[in-house]
Amino acid sequence: MKVLVVGNGGREHALAWKLLQSAQIEQVVCVPGNGGTATLERCQNLPLAVDDFEGMSRYALENGISLVVVGPEVPLAMGITDYLQSQGLMVFGPVKAGAQIEASKAWAKALMQEAGIPTAKAAVFTEATAAKSYVKSQGIPIVIKADGLAAGKGVIVATTQEQAETAIEAIFAGQFGSAGNFVVVEECLIGEEVSVLALTDGLTIRPLLPAQDHKRIGDGDTGENTGGMGAYAPAPIATPQLMARIQTEVLERAIAGLKSRGIDYRGVLYAGLMIAPDGEFKVLEFNCRFGDPETQVILPLLETPLEELILACVQQRLGEMPPIAWKPGAAATVVAASGGYPGKYDTGKVITGIKEAEAPGVTVFHAGTKLNQQQEIVTDGGRVLNVTGIGENFQQAIAQAYTGIKSIQFQGVYYRQDIGHRVLN
Ligand code: AMP
Ligand code: GLY
Repeated sequence: MKVLVVGNGGREHALAWKLLQSAQIEQVVCVPGNGGTATLERCQNLPLAVDDFEGMSRYALENGISLVVVGPEVPLAMGITDYLQSQGLMVFGPVKAGAQIEASKAWAKALMQEAGIPTAKAAVFTEATAAKSYVKSQGIPIVIKADGLAAGKGVIVATTQEQAETAIEAIFAGQFGSAGNFVVVEECLIGEEVSVLALTDGLTIRPLLPAQDHKRIGDGDTGENTGGMGAYAPAPIATPQLMARIQTEVLERAIAGLKSRGIDYRGVLYAGLMIAPDGEFKVLEFNCRFGDPETQVILPLLETPLEELILACVQQRLGEMPPIAWKPGAAATVVAASGGYPGKYDTGKVITGIKEAEAPGVTVFHAGTKLNQQQEIVTDGGRVLNVTGIGENFQQAIAQAYTGIKSIQFQGVYYRQDIGHRVLN
């Protein structure tokens, strides 16, 4: 079988890498892919934009591609699944209506409230004055969210009234693009975050191993929010008891809420949760896709062939699959970023040491990289590489990841020194 993977991040490199471990997968084509997918065996890049649905469809139909796996939220929110399905292709990823669960925070909040899913108290505003006076009435800290997709940058945790007001103004001024029509003002939750990604065919829901991301740029979870600076799995905070509650109180209710809106949701449903110190949880957000960098720690532990699970979701027979099998042990990934990220950074820096990093138990997934004309791997984004370590336990997995990343060099390389601090202490 030939598969087309849409996207160019570490998540997509991990998806391609995992798919290619199966003898059933002849070839993976990544649109547009990165330096990692360009150099992976039986994998090639196709230089099309992720919103060029017609181009992808033509290529897929002419080249015998039978399955399309969509990584990022943007093409899903634009209806890539609806379009490619209408052309007769099998697509893993929800239809446009389903992707609203990530693409509109206001829509997702309404669904959560109606479905009885525990979530932060929130109010939605269409103009600044009302939003600001609501902030005054609630007090700080408070969370201000732009409504639409903003590449993880549309959430401001405000610790002063002034910060909250500036954020509200910035959102309505269109600084988050199309995410500027609504502002969600939300209660600030405290606790520990966990990402629970589940596969679903619209009927059956099978959670993957829980993972924990590290959102902030700095050690000790300080500084600005990023797309994610590192992750580990399985996150021990999500105990089997908690996972059972998340299944019934979050995932099943969400799928029921989607169904009641006429949406046949198939793909990944990703719940970002905050676990309070007393063990109670609330949903921070839903995503309609695999997490990045969570995927880079979940897939290396997956024993069941990924394409079997994906096909079962697409063909609505997930309930017939045996339980998902996992490798024992743990995985951790550390993100090597360009200096300056999540603000301004340079690109085009030559990267060395990737081969040296990849000892047994270490896999390097590329994110913002590309092959230049001299066939060198160079930096091409903020988050550049994910160095994933696998071990019998967290100590080993984290040590492997850090041993690997020490070999990696490019001008301005930055990474957090404390990925996994919660499980090490
Ligand atoms: P979201 O895009 O909604 O997941 O938000 C991105 C990040 O902002 C989350 O992973 C949290 O770290 C933080 N965040 C979002 N909502 C809240 C909230 N209500 N309270 C505290 N932190 C939040
Ligand atoms: N790691 C956060 C996300 O994928 O949204």
